[in-house]
Amino acid sequence: MSVEVVKVGLLGLGTVGGGVIKTIHSQQEKLAARLGKRIEIVKALVRDAEKERAVQMGRTVLTTDFDEVLHSGVDIVVEVMGGVEPAYDYVRASIEKGCHVVTANKELLAKRGAELVELANRHQVHLAYEASVAGGIPILGVLRQFLRTNDITGIRGILNGTTNFILTKMEAEQLSYQEVLREAQELGYAEADPRSDVEGFDAMYKLYILAQLVYGESLPLAEVSRKGIADLTCGQIRIASELGYRIKLIAQANQTGDGIHLSVEPTALPLDHPLAQIQDSYNAVQLSGNIVGDLLFTGRGAGEMPTASAVVEDLAYLLTQPFTPHPVWKEREGAAKELSGGREQSLCYVEGAGPAATPDRVLQFLRASGVEVHKLKVQFDLGGVLRAGLITSGLHEEHTDLLRSDFGLQVRCFPLLHASE
Ligand SMILES: NC(=O)c1ccc[n+]([C@@H]2O[C@H](COP(=O)([O-])OP(=O)(O)OC[C@H]3O[C@@H](n4cnc5c(N)ncnc54)[C@H](OP(=O)(O)O)[C@@H]3O)[C@@H](O)[C@H]2O)c1
Repeated sequence: MSVEVVKVGLLGLGTVGGGVIKTIHSQQEKLAARLGKRIEIVKALVRDAEKERAVQMGRTVLTTDFDEVLHSGVDIVVEVMGGVEPAYDYVRASIEKGCHVVTANKELLAKRGAELVELANRHQVHLAYEASVAGGIPILGVLRQFLRTNDITGIRGILNGTTNFILTKMEAEQLSYQEVLREAQELGYAEADPRSDVEGFDAMYKLYILAQLVYGESLPLAEVSRKGIADLTCGQIRIASELGYRIKLIAQANQTGDGIHLSVEPTALPLDHPLAQIQDSYNAVQLSGNIVGDLLFTGRGAGEMPTASAVVEDLAYLLTQPFTPHPVWKEREGAAKELSGGREQSLCYVEGAGPAATPDRVLQFLRASGVEVHKLKVQFDLGGVLRAGLITSGLHEEHTDLLRSDFGLQVRCFPLLHASE
């Protein structure tokens, strides 16, 4: 029986592109049997064709010229090069030529996804992007295919493996952020320029995409409340742990009467919260559906093979499914940003050595200001520096400002989740 050959052009042959080649090669016979089609990579676009690579490609396959990819008779373009430009131009040109597109590029989707979805609909081609959110976890497919009846009332997750690795190590080995970052870079878990991960941009892009699928709209990126982990200290993590909490970089999307809220920020989770158990470079997505209740999906959110798995599963999907229009992506101005300090409960860390920096005076001030303090952990070091962690209700920015100005304290507050949230 003859097996149809599907020609694929690959944009990028780095970590993910290499994994895609390995997966297609190792799974070729099985894929041919299951899909009745054989995937052939006819062109692979790179920046430097002379570079040493983990996967060997024929010299005629590698190119540094996108037009060669576009005019090589490809049916599908797989974009795994990253960045917005020129990736946007290449994806747009591929769609306009009638090629289906698979991409792992969350930044491109979060910044130009609405245009690309609209263009793909106009040209009736698939635009598949499972690998762009939580790597190997097939969360987008689940949302698209298996949760059409449920209203998703909340979505939250650990969407960045690098920051989860750093926070896990800081807690387990009592190391500073800088020490763990250096180790993560040596192990290849963190980029030489780690800003996208540690400042929460990467998680924000993924959250943006999730919100489009779950709520049919997202917020402009500038309106997402975003805080990273680079200013977290070992002391904050230790006191949180003594209070029974673990700090995680949590991405959350919630729909309320006044719109959707999207936030990415270090959050205190009780140790028995399902997301507190997600350690090292693992990712997790927790969904609440009005019929199904809570669901938790976890797995490797990045890396060569988990990400390649999602890319090749997308390829297999679009080779077997007819085109159906993608729901359009919308952006809507959001409700006012929530401030961690104004939330119901927070874990507040204070540190300082001034004469007013005593637990009694801090407690007295907070109680007199109407702030409830549910739990307190205090440490003094030999130099008389106060370090305290407080679980509070009703703490607002005006209180934290006064703790800084009148008590000479450094203050860092984390929103707090309950075990059942
Ligand atoms: N790495 C992960 O674990 C992971 C997980 C999920 C999603 N993603 C996403 O997947 C994409 C690729 O990530 P990656 O880690 O595989 O990146 P990478 O290792 O840096 O590889 C990028 C590849 O694209 C090529 N490239 C980049 N810019 C180019 C340009 N202007 N023209 C031609 N070729 C260009 C590079 O060519 P050279 O090899 O010649 O430099 C390289 O082969 C990104 O969007 C990323 O966000 C990655």
